Amino acid sequence: MNISKQDCIAWDQADPLRDYRNRFIIEPGQIYLDGNSLGVLPAHTSKKIENTIQYEWGVDLIKSWNKAGWFELAGKLGDRMGELVGAAPDQIVVCDNTTINLFKAIHGALGINRQRNKIIAHKGDFPTDLYIIEGAAANAGREIQIELVEGETTICDHFSDQVAVAILSHVNYKTGALMDMEEITRRAHAAGVLVVWDLCHSAGALAVELDKCHVDFAVGCSYKYLNGGPGAPAFIYAAKQHHATMTQPLSGWWSHANPFDFSHQYVPANGIKRMLSGTQPILSLCGVSTGLDTFHGIQMDEVRKKSMALCQLFIDLVTQRCGNYGLEIIDPIHAEQRGSHVSVAFEQGYSVVQAMIEQGVTGDFRAPNLMRFGFTPLYIGYEQVWNAIEVLGDCLQREVWKDEKYDRRSLVT
Ligand SMILES: Cc1ncc(COP(=O)(O)O)c(C=O)c1O
Repeated sequence: MNISKQDCIAWDQADPLRDYRNRFIIEPGQIYLDGNSLGVLPAHTSKKIENTIQYEWGVDLIKSWNKAGWFELAGKLGDRMGELVGAAPDQIVVCDNTTINLFKAIHGALGINRQRNKIIAHKGDFPTDLYIIEGAAANAGREIQIELVEGETTICDHFSDQVAVAILSHVNYKTGALMDMEEITRRAHAAGVLVVWDLCHSAGALAVELDKCHVDFAVGCSYKYLNGGPGAPAFIYAAKQHHATMTQPLSGWWSHANPFDFSHQYVPANGIKRMLSGTQPILSLCGVSTGLDTFHGIQMDEVRKKSMALCQLFIDLVTQRCGNYGLEIIDPIHAEQRGSHVSVAFEQGYSVVQAMIEQGVTGDFRAPNLMRFGFTPLYIGYEQVWNAIEVLGDCLQREVWKDEKYDRRSLVT
């Protein structure tokens, strides 16, 4: 089927999510396809943070730990996060970053499954996961083997009675492949393996069902699809049945049963608070709060439906408009097996992305050759996808990217 710009305009008109774009501040004329790296600014974030600074900090000062609920905020936001990722209350805290939370989750799982001595993960997962696996293994207090599996679908075949814990990316940061959380968790448990899911590329992009899938631990960030702001605190989920037995490697005072007793002896808190460590950045937590507000009243099924449609439209238009330039879509073929971004392999992908950014279409680049484009249903529309492809097609056709200024590498790609 030949897709026209008119089709895209009609899809926008019929889109039940189209007005939610007003919940964000987006520069006119910008087509921002990088919400999978850093979500855009919610319209009320600045005001909320300014308020917190002026009144809660500026006027009430230390009283705000109680009066404004600062001390409870990590858990309160955790419960709200739970509504988006299918977790009943008291199982999530918002704190630290994904990397640190991963360390805590792996340590917790290794402690529960202490008669087993292997960690398993996919080799293609986000590097911090692999680095933290090394760190957690080295600090486990016993010899831990690490097995890194190549390929997306084979990990279940590697579950054995040696494996204590599997670290799994729900959506792969490069290929966009979405793993079957329910089935993999089921097979892991059948083999006595605990699971830690990394939700960085799925939380806020699709309906996640942690409780329903009987997940043990999960972590994820809030600055991508959840619009919490640059470096916004992440979250950690631990299923209730593990709370009594999980240990915390960063056993700071916020994870203590009675932090304000200032006792010399560490006694872990009951419940998910055990996963906290030290004082949390309140201003950044405000950003998480307003980021979560942007999902108010929205069904994640609608988000997922539109995300699949936007990704498919982008893929179809790449074929229709840019079929002659040697681009290769590396995401899974079937929409149900993809997350919410599309990765396109092209040797000079870095330069193409820079040239597109100059034309107002922002994607990003992942070495060695991937152009990545994220589709965030709350603020991206179908006509914008059409226009982005026009920019991509024009850039390739006129070889705009060949200008050497586009080949200069920045620190962040
Ligand atoms: C899948 C995945 N896991 C972990 C991380 C690391 O997150 P952080 O740097 O916030 O710890 C990222 C960052 O982009 C990611 O994409």
